[in-house]
Amino acid sequence: ADLSARLHEIIGAHLGLEGPLLPILHAIQAEWGHIPDPAIPVLANALNLGRAEVHGVVSFYHDFRTTPAGPTVVKLCAAEACQAQGGRDLIAATLRAFGLSTYGTTPDGKVTVEPVYCLGLCACGPAALVNDRLLGRATPATLREAAR
Ligand code: FES
Repeated sequence: ADLSARLHEIIGAHLGLEGPLLPILHAIQAEWGHIPDPAIPVLANALNLGRAEVHGVVSFYHDFRTTPAGPTVVKLCAAEACQAQGGRDLIAATLRAFGLSTYGTTPDGKVTVEPVYCLGLCACGPAALVNDRLLGRATPATLREAAR
């Protein structure tokens, strides 16, 4: 659908809310899989905010992507309980395995690695989510297998 028309529909549907920015951003990401750049000035305008402010919110919340994700999304728990159970090493090993130096999408566009903050599997960390598949005690090997 035409981005601008759909964007205005989404904004219009949330304008009455108190603090509409987050729900609008979630709706935009649900629609396009990420927050397209051209949406930022439109949102800023509609909500009477500065572009930098909207941009700041998008980059502050790890839920929002600024570029489209690959068909496989690997979310690694970066919250405390998992970090204490080897999560830090798992994140480093996973990024390395996919040839990434930080969170993001592989150059071939196939895999996106992102942090997530608690998947409710704290007792069997490190936890990960590969597309819709939840993994406990994840290892580079089980992640690779699930991401295949
Ligand atoms: Fe990782 Fe809760 S801290 S699942």
